[in-house]
Amino acid sequence: MSQRRLFVTTALPYANGHFHIGHIMEYIQADIWVRFQRMQGNEVHFVCADDAHGAPIMIAADKAGKTPQQFVADIAAGRKPYLDGFHIAFDNWHSTDAPENHELAQQIYRDLKANGLIETRTIEQFFDPEKNMFLHDRFIKGECPNCHAKDQYGDNCEVCGKVYSPTELINPYSALSGAKPVLKNSEHFFFKLSDPRCLAFLDQWTQSGAVQPEVLNKISEWIEPGEDGKPKMGDWDISRDAPYFGIEIPDAPGKYFYVWLDAPVGYLASLKNWFGKKGLDFDAFMADPATEQFHFIGKDIITFHTLFWPAMLHFSGRKVPNAVFVHGFLTVNNGEKMSKSRGTGLDPMKYLQLGMNPEWLRYYLAAKLSARNEDI
Ligand code: MSP
Ligand code: ZN
Repeated sequence: MSQRRLFVTTALPYANGHFHIGHIMEYIQADIWVRFQRMQGNEVHFVCADDAHGAPIMIAADKAGKTPQQFVADIAAGRKPYLDGFHIAFDNWHSTDAPENHELAQQIYRDLKANGLIETRTIEQFFDPEKNMFLHDRFIKGECPNCHAKDQYGDNCEVCGKVYSPTELINPYSALSGAKPVLKNSEHFFFKLSDPRCLAFLDQWTQSGAVQPEVLNKISEWIEPGEDGKPKMGDWDISRDAPYFGIEIPDAPGKYFYVWLDAPVGYLASLKNWFGKKGLDFDAFMADPATEQFHFIGKDIITFHTLFWPAMLHFSGRKVPNAVFVHGFLTVNNGEKMSKSRGTGLDPMKYLQLGMNPEWLRYYLAAKLSARNEDI
């Protein structure tokens, strides 16, 4: 059998904190798979990177009194002991703020635009007059229009569960400054995912064996007509206004790519950076139809990886993933996702500091994980 050539990634962690055991679980799953492929004699390039961009990181950096670049660099500097400690052997670790990613994201955008899949529209959004910035849903708070609970976020109520738009909140205020937000128009850029070409491609790709059956069940409503005769897929808002920590949209001063546009491009940027270090030809590798591309991710980021990302690649004339492998969550407190922002992120360093053998955790997770996306 001839040797296969594989490009393998795990999801790029947000660069706003250290790893928790949930991250390590994903890396261990992928690392074991990669070692297995190499034992079969296959050539594998296994890469990851920090997901550096977006409003939450920009705001966290501001609070820490650092530039976003410095903030992200400080997080990146602490990654190695975790990876080495659990025997996770990525070939390369890069950043979505690196030059390769700026170039690739802008090129992919230009290719999508040339293909007639980018459109601009004016939308009305809340703006913080003190901070002089448009406010993301999570940075607007107010009273729930349904149950009147106070201090609820702009997207949904944590008390009654109602989902609404920020403009429906009663007495809205900016979570950044406390100021009363004003409505302001802004031109946004959209990737026309509802275009029949995109739907036809996604219909074919998602049924090509690229996703697990339970994943296909979850995403098919985005592609197949629902009760109203239409699929759920809408066009995707891919722009954000300055100030934003991200990549500038070509020929659109003051406009940046939404973090989720350039984040998966970071897979390619990390591979390109790795190939540069090794003196290998990145373009030739990615243009070779025999090259296989695989992504390991958790179940919370399925739509980005099985709908938006394959469409970005295909309609910019690039190779699409052969498969996206989705795992469940490592849970705590009766099924809740372990998460740093909820204060339940167990620090993997403690495990190592107690002198416990990393192979025990690797074995435990390997034994518990399966091809299904069940929680552990
Ligand atoms: N930055 C995005 C991914 C961009 S990929 C182009 C992101 N980052 S994350 O840090 O929130 O999550 C990174 C990965 O860790 C995701 O695959 C996510 O599902 C996984 N996990 C986060 N918490 C987890 C558990 N509690 N258990 C298992 N995996 C978990 O999403
Ligand atoms: Zn409510």
